[in-house]
Amino acid sequence: MSLTSFSFPTRTLFGPRALRELPAQLSRLGVHRPLVVTDDGFANTPAFASMREVLDGAIPGAWELFCGVHPNPVEDDVHKPAALFCERHCDGVIAIGGGSPLDAGKASRLLVKRPGFDLTKFYDEPDWSGLAPFIAIPTTAGTGSEVGRSSVITLDATRRKSVIFHPELLAKLVILDPELTVGLPPKLTAATGADALTHCIESYTCPAFHPMCDGIALEGVRLIIDALPRAYRDGSDVDARGKMLVAASMGAVAFQKDLGVVHSLAHPLSTLCGMHHGLANALCLVAGMKFCASRKPGLYRRVGVACGLDVLGVSDTEADHRTVAFISDFLAKLGLNTRLRDHGVQPALIDALVGQAVDDPCHKTNAVPVTAADFRDLYNAVM
Ligand SMILES: NC(=O)c1ccc[n+]([C@@H]2O[C@H](COP(=O)([O-])OP(=O)(O)OC[C@H]3O[C@@H](n4cnc5c(N)ncnc54)[C@H](O)[C@@H]3O)[C@@H](O)[C@H]2O)c1
Ligand SMILES: [Fe+2]
Repeated sequence: MSLTSFSFPTRTLFGPRALRELPAQLSRLGVHRPLVVTDDGFANTPAFASMREVLDGAIPGAWELFCGVHPNPVEDDVHKPAALFCERHCDGVIAIGGGSPLDAGKASRLLVKRPGFDLTKFYDEPDWSGLAPFIAIPTTAGTGSEVGRSSVITLDATRRKSVIFHPELLAKLVILDPELTVGLPPKLTAATGADALTHCIESYTCPAFHPMCDGIALEGVRLIIDALPRAYRDGSDVDARGKMLVAASMGAVAFQKDLGVVHSLAHPLSTLCGMHHGLANALCLVAGMKFCASRKPGLYRRVGVACGLDVLGVSDTEADHRTVAFISDFLAKLGLNTRLRDHGVQPALIDALVGQAVDDPCHKTNAVPVTAADFRDLYNAVM
């Protein structure tokens, strides 16, 4: 058996109104002038207003705001908050919002340490110690970026989603406050939840030895199957919102084990077509599962058990069939049974999509190998 290393812990505050603990936590971390990083849309929500109220009440005039992060962030979304941080003499970053501001805020600390650094050379630089403290407050329940050591940024040089990974990027504190997610519209609730579901399923089925992640992934599936339909139907169901926030974090803890073919299909749909990451995963998940099951029968039996299905006493093929059918129906009930062309993706783009998908690292750890021809078939299947 080869050597492997495990690490999980991120200090996490969970519960309705957990946001109110933020000032005490800032003091604990020695942060006196935080830079808040978010996006334009979220900055106009009541959830952001509650953040503003908490900070103005505790440290009036002593926090700065960058609210220009794009969905599927690009390099500028990392450079700009870093420049503001330096200009205003900030001493910590609070990222609040979905995965986009969390990833941009997290990575901005790299450019605070090394202003003007060329991010394409990130992996040539060994020393990223001493980054500014980072607090992550997710307001979608999907990416799990809050507990991750990576940022997904589309680099100017390649125009592809690149994973910038370093243990030093980890947040010092995560605040999971379900009240911040009650205003997330149903479509985004569904799409971001499907991202979390994909993380759990792909990480559980990727072949690396990581039983801790496997257990977390399967419990994540169980929570999502219970909570996502409730959060979708009734956004103010705080119990469901809370379970989705925890499940999303669990999905990201689990995918430190790795991901698979569905994420490789999804990434080019965001870079080339601007599609939301969760939606892209949702549209590709069932096709990806069918493909993997056809080459590795029985792969999804325990996912089926986590979904509450009776799949223990049946053949491998039947267990997969029932599980994939259940997931397909589950997504359809969330309005996620559309096809790529319903979202403006043209069949003429398939060559370019395949070209990027083949180079994407996620499928290298898929349950079964994936070729360019397989990617073409898969895109055609969901077109
Ligand atoms: N770092 C990681 O480990 C990791 C993992 C998966 C995905 N990602 C990345 O995360 C990004 C996607 O993040 P996302 O799916 O959270 O979407 P997002 O951050 O792009 O947000 C989508 C939209 O939701 C809005 N929004 C967020 N919270 C809201 C709320 N509570 N109420 C109302 N509107 C709200 C935002 O304003 C935005 O318009 C992609 O770039 C993806 O590549 C990163
Ligand atoms: Fe994802």
